[in-house]
Amino acid sequence: MKIAIINGPNLNLLGTREPEVYGSYTLKELEEMLKQAVSGKNVNLVFFQSNSEGEIVDFIHSMIGNADGIIINPGAYSHYSIAILDALRAFPGRVIEVHLSNVFRREEYRKRLLTAEAADAVIAGLGFESYLFALFYLMDSIQ
Ligand code: DQA
Repeated sequence: MKIAIINGPNLNLLGTREPEVYGSYTLKELEEMLKQAVSGKNVNLVFFQSNSEGEIVDFIHSMIGNADGIIINPGAYSHYSIAILDALRAFPGRVIEVHLSNVFRREEYRKRLLTAEAADAVIAGLGFESYLFALFYLMDSIQ
């Protein structure tokens, strides 16, 4: 089983960026935690982070026929990127959109999750555990 973990803009700054909202752990630590969660299991994780919309679209395309599931935190693109929404719609596997923060308890402009229209589920507000629960769900549901 292959699962792609995609992080969008500014998530490379995890650990230093608004730690009161996003926590004090880094993206590398998040990736390590997810690797630990699959250790000894027949699951291959692929990590990708980009600050560019086009690069995220290209990466999603490269996963078509090449991954069983995607866990994506599109960052601010979640709120307005039709290009990422369309790319996710073209991906035939499972898609879970995750957010570290509870976007519904924040500014009005964060309450609309455009890209989530292409997701099977959304997990928001659990910090790193948003990713972990998404991973557990995909491992359980993809055979
Ligand atoms: C975020 C929420 C977005 O509104 C914000 O732009 C981010 C992070 C989250 O994980 O909580 O970059 O996706």
